[in-house]
Amino acid sequence: MSFFARFLGRKKKPEPEGEAAPGRLSIVGRGPRPASRIWTVGGGKGGVGKSIVAANFGALLAGSGQRTLLIDADFGAANLHTLFGITGSNLSLSSFLKADITDIRRVVTGTGIQDLDIVTGAMDSLNIADMKASYLARLQTAVSELDYDHIVLDLSPGTSPEVLDCFLMSDEGVLVTTPEPTSIENTYRFMKCLFLRRIRAVINSGEPGRLKEMLKAALERDPKISTVSEFIKNFRLSAGGEAAPEEILGGMGAHLIVNRTRLPEDRTIGPHMQRACLSYFGVRFNHLGDICQDTLIEDSVRTRKLLVRNYPGTAAALSLTSCFRKLVSVEQGKVEQKAARGLQQT
Ligand SMILES: Nc1ncnc2c1ncn2[C@@H]1O[C@H](COP(=O)(O)OP(=O)(O)OP(=O)(O)O)[C@@H](O)[C@H]1O
Ligand SMILES: [Mg+2]
Repeated sequence: MSFFARFLGRKKKPEPEGEAAPGRLSIVGRGPRPASRIWTVGGGKGGVGKSIVAANFGALLAGSGQRTLLIDADFGAANLHTLFGITGSNLSLSSFLKADITDIRRVVTGTGIQDLDIVTGAMDSLNIADMKASYLARLQTAVSELDYDHIVLDLSPGTSPEVLDCFLMSDEGVLVTTPEPTSIENTYRFMKCLFLRRIRAVINSGEPGRLKEMLKAALERDPKISTVSEFIKNFRLSAGGEAAPEEILGGMGAHLIVNRTRLPEDRTIGPHMQRACLSYFGVRFNHLGDICQDTLIEDSVRTRKLLVRNYPGTAAALSLTSCFRKLVSVEQGKVEQKAARGLQQT
């Protein structure tokens, strides 16, 4: 049996009594269907512009009449609030996750922008090593119960299980990379880890299901497989057209933004990565667009004035808005498809 098969088949250590079973809510079932649409912004590397994208997307959503909540889910170095010129508070996500506060609405504050609220991040830096599955389960349940049109989560960098599970909570997940090879490499790593996390959780889940059976069949087809790509090829073969690799991600839309583009060749990175992902994973990581390198973004952080609201019409604000519109139109397409399917069934 290959390392890959052993890794996927390895059961996780049971959580102490009273803790939620790891991955139950957050990965396998994706929890109760929330009323709000969940967008998450993540990335394999730190400092690539995740918070800039999350904050500005939040403001653009609010500006288009969507009641929106931003959640700073950067458990190590939360600073989303700073982009809005507001100070962090002790009433933050960590007080809710650690159950000091039981109702997440008590840690929601305004951003000063109409229709845009925020849950600020952990000021005391939740040690990622102390993150319990129960924290994530609490977060997911809260998110599913909150009454907003959109909830945008700004994630920590990297590929820790907590980050991957938060990313898998989304309806639309956005990965931000820069043109640097290190960032691109970490973005591909993030994608691979995302598939592994989800495949492993579904295979190890206690509940039967069609996807689980198909994933197991893919693994049994050739237990010597050693890469995610080989696994997905096997999945396609054993599903025989009955399921597409997108189903592995549970219907989540996956997107990509290349930030800090400067050179003409930087503009080829997004389309190239989109093609590479399609051929490797069989899944389209939709390239939403590029955001150019622009000192106004640094200025907007220094002055704590949000780019799309205070510097509209500038190159960076326009490119951010174009990425946002593309994401909205993908989401709108899904909503229309769903409505059409509903009509057919009636
Ligand atoms: N397009 C850009 N042009 C110029 N500067 C940028 C651009 N995007 C981001 N920056 C700079 O990079 C800094 C980091 O951005 P941001 O905080 O959004 O990254 P992050 O990915 O959220 O980082 P972390 O991993 O620490 O959470 C910003 O404060 C800003 O100065
Ligand atoms: Mg950040």
